[in-house]
This record gives sequence, structure tokens and C-alpha cells, in this order.
Amino acid sequence: MSDVLAVLKKSPVIPVLAFKSAQEAVDVCRVLFDEGLSVLEITLRHESALAAINAVKEDLPADACVGAGTVVTPALAEAAIEAGAEFGVSPGLTPELAAAVKKLNWPFLPGIATLSEAMQAREWGFTELKFFPANISGGTGFLKAVGSVLPDLTFCPTGGISVDTAPDYRALPNVATVGGSWITPRGRDGSIDLGLVRELARTAVEGH
Ligand code: 3PG
Repeated sequence: MSDVLAVLKKSPVIPVLAFKSAQEAVDVCRVLFDEGLSVLEITLRHESALAAINAVKEDLPADACVGAGTVVTPALAEAAIEAGAEFGVSPGLTPELAAAVKKLNWPFLPGIATLSEAMQAREWGFTELKFFPANISGGTGFLKAVGSVLPDLTFCPTGGISVDTAPDYRALPNVATVGGSWITPRGRDGSIDLGLVRELARTAVEGH
């Protein structure tokens, strides 16, 4: 089992997170972890993302698995590792990024949206892939078709997945887990309601 497959199998849902500050990250991740979501993807989409990864790693118990999302360059992979990210996720894959994460020996989940991209990633040695954006790239039908021609690949679909559609994805034999941001919505004022996060996390865990 590859390292990244072990990460994917730890949680029925991987929250895809974007925080405005390290404190917000700690507050939200504590709730997610308490509710049984132990794999957390903090995307590198905000200037405080690396500080957030670092702070969450410090704050949560050692069995929490904190990774970095939106890793689109080798430099970001290096920075995320430096911040303590235990795995990396990317919406896509380039030859440079593939070579860099291999050299860094970092558990990595590259993104694909087509069969040719899946075949290319497979040639580079990646057999666990993010399917993104899942809902507009063929959804469960695409994954069923890939399963019949490339049965050795395992997926984590993300992009437009909701509490209602997650079970359909998870029921597929080539899906290890699903990812999404629906568990941590922001209110009109831009804040994240921790009570609501707790409720949504509980539903996501119970519904799997
Ligand atoms: C990701 O980076 O995987 C996506 O932003 C998650 O997609 P979602 O926000 O539609 O759940």
C-alpha cells in the first residue's frame, strides 16, 4: 500500500480547507478532528496557509494527518513539507511537479480530469489520484468507465461533492474517500460557524 493510499483510507471524507488565519485553522480543525475527521487538507490558497498547517500540526494530537492542498509547483511542495504537511494534493500534474514530489519522497495525490491525464500520471508512478472537478468532469459515470480500463487506479473525487452525492462516489470500488469543502461553509459575514461545522462533520461521518 502506498503512503498516500494509507492516508486516503483513514477517513471517509477529507475536508478541503481554506483558512484566513492560523487561529481560525486551529479552531475549525479541532472540531473536525473531534468529530472523527482525522485527515485534513489545508489548501495553499491564502497567505496564512503555511502558518495554518504548522499551527494545526502543533495543536492536534499526533494521529491527526495534516496535508497541503493546491500544491501546484515544486516550490510549494517544498514549502508545505517545511511547514509540516504530511501529504500533498494538487488539482493537476506537470512533469516538473511529478519529478519534484518523487524526489522529495512525499505522499502525493495529483489531480486528473481525463483518461489521458490518468494514464500519464500512472506512467509517472501515481496510482492514487484526485478526480477534479468531479461533478463537471463526468462524476460517478467517469469513474466507472475508468475502473473498467484502468482497474489499478484508486481515486479521491473532489469538486462539487455534497453530503447527498458523497455516498454514490464512495460506493464505487475504485474510490477510497471523497474530498470537499461543504463541511466548512462561510457565512455571509465571512466567518465559519463552529456549531454548524460540528453538525456537518457528524453527518458526513455518519452518512458514510
Ligand atoms: C478542491 O480543491 O478539491 C476543491 O476546491 C474542492 O471542491 P469543492 O469546494 O467544490 O468541495
